[in-house]
Amino acid sequence: MEKETIYILAIESSCDDTSAAVLCNNKMLSNVVSTQKIHEEYGGVVPELASRAHQQNIVPVVHQALSIANIDKKQLSAIAFTRGPGLMGSLLVGTSFAKSLAMGLGIPLIEVNHMQAHILAHFIETENKSKPEFPFLGMTISGGHTQIVLVKDYFDMEILGESLDDAVGEAFDKSAKVLGLPYPGGPLIDKYAQLGNPKAFPFTKPRVDGLNFSFSGLKTGILYFIQRETKKNPNFITENLNDICASIQYTIIEILMDKLKKAVKQTGVNQIAIGGGVSANSGIRNALKKATKTHGWTTYIPEFQYCTDNAAMIGIVGFLKYTQGDFSKQDITAKARYAIGS
Ligand code: KG4
Ligand code: ZN
Repeated sequence: MEKETIYILAIESSCDDTSAAVLCNNKMLSNVVSTQKIHEEYGGVVPELASRAHQQNIVPVVHQALSIANIDKKQLSAIAFTRGPGLMGSLLVGTSFAKSLAMGLGIPLIEVNHMQAHILAHFIETENKSKPEFPFLGMTISGGHTQIVLVKDYFDMEILGESLDDAVGEAFDKSAKVLGLPYPGGPLIDKYAQLGNPKAFPFTKPRVDGLNFSFSGLKTGILYFIQRETKKNPNFITENLNDICASIQYTIIEILMDKLKKAVKQTGVNQIAIGGGVSANSGIRNALKKATKTHGWTTYIPEFQYCTDNAAMIGIVGFLKYTQGDFSKQDITAKARYAIGS
């Protein structure tokens, strides 16, 4: 008997990106992301403005995803959507839209945990790329989260460590703000860091027990350092931007790599898969590539388009749940706090 072809329409609206994707089984046919520019002028995501922008974007973004995939909505097998974690007002837009569309088309609805999706993005079919084997360590590094997770199976994940305060993406963005760079500053720090000396300015790394992280002290350390130096030389930032960014990035990557080494030692698992916006960072990518040689790790780094928030990662989880018959009821609600293991 021929295997059924499954078409999933996936919707992601947890923060400030409105995204829709179509998958045919585990293959991505389209992955449309509309990034909300409005937040740049506020130096961070404004929840109220994010939900309004989702309202405006969701219909055109879904249309575009179907049109690029060349799929009619009548061909869809199910609708997958991000249930949480995220901003409630933002989640409600995607959740309500997905529920209505699934009901209108008379097809199943599938809820997806955004943090699981960042990890399971590795299972989207990609040419010449092997997939992680269970068990592996997942490290999700984004603007909202920093976690090291033991992934025993698709839907069996255990948090080994997480940030006690700021997420690593926030550490990048807040440091960038101190340097007068626009939001989100992570990609800019990365850009300038590649031209600078990572050992130019040593910053103190936080001491945190076990596999947990803390980034708020580093942020304050950087702020005080910049205030001190600009008092002596008002042009300190412009004259040293590359070296400052390289030093900040070096410190943050060291913090992440130190914990990963600890996690490998603790679990005996040396397959590492990263996910989340910060996995686009050149420093972490290079450090992980190096670790394959120096520590014998097998590392998995997602394609750039699957690093930051996107609906294709929601779609792959939708596909995996579809094959397991794991569907959601129409009375399901969005969940702003939603642990990865629950
Ligand atoms: O996963 P994501 O798109 O959204 C969240 O769920 O948070 O991650 C966004 C975060 C932002 O903090 C952004 O500055 C950071 O990822 N980011 C980077 C880079 N690209 C995105 N941080 C450092 N280097 C990058 N190249
Ligand atoms: Zn994310």
